[in-house]
Amino acid sequence: MIDPVALPGKPTSASRTTLSHIMTANETNLLGTVHGGVIMKLVDDAAGAVAGRHSGGPAVTASMDEMVFLLPVRVGDLVHVHAQCNWTGRTSMEIGVRVMAERWNESTPAQQVGSAYLVFAAVDAEGDPRPVPPVVPETERDRRRFQEAQIRRTHRLARRRAILELRGKHPDE
Ligand SMILES: CC(C)(COP(=O)(O)OP(=O)(O)OC[C@H]1O[C@@H](n2cnc3c(N)ncnc32)[C@H](O)[C@@H]1OP(=O)(O)O)[C@@H](O)C(=O)NCCC(=O)NCCS
Repeated sequence: MIDPVALPGKPTSASRTTLSHIMTANETNLLGTVHGGVIMKLVDDAAGAVAGRHSGGPAVTASMDEMVFLLPVRVGDLVHVHAQCNWTGRTSMEIGVRVMAERWNESTPAQQVGSAYLVFAAVDAEGDPRPVPPVVPETERDRRRFQEAQIRRTHRLARRRAILELRGKHPDE
């Protein structure tokens, strides 16, 4: 096993990615606005590109949390999905995603319509977790996001442990 400490750090900007897409009538829900699942797919795609770039190889989605939809997305909106690596562990990375939308044919400012945090695990050819380079935050905002990601990580682990402990007390269910 490679010691992750031995892997050189990689700056946040090296893998930061934006995925843009114009929404069409094929992507609507019964209300006529864009289906949330379509946005989630774009979020997963953009985050996956960042995870692959940061880790230098394949990476799989381990979890997605705090997916927030702030405003409806409409047919004809040009959606920009901005993603960056907020935090790295030994084999996992938290990718933060911000979703912006603007009318495709107007020069009005883009509005934030959603956000999400995803954990990706870098995997080898057998699908087993492999070490990732430590992310090197470059700006004050990157450093704040790193610290916030660490808080989310602590909460995810604590929540999982607490639920497993509780289930251990109900083995016959
Ligand atoms: C994600 C996966 C590789 C983890 O494998 P595992 O055998 O549980 O390995 P580990 O427990 O060592 O976890 C690997 C890393 O992922 C993190 N991780 C695993 N499950 C997680 C979860 N539910 N939430 C957050 N992080 C998670 C671990 O904390 C660990 O991070 P670290 O090394 O930085 O500390 C495995 O569960 C998997 O392949 N899942 C399917 C992924 C997939 O197919 N996604 C696409 C959806 S169709």
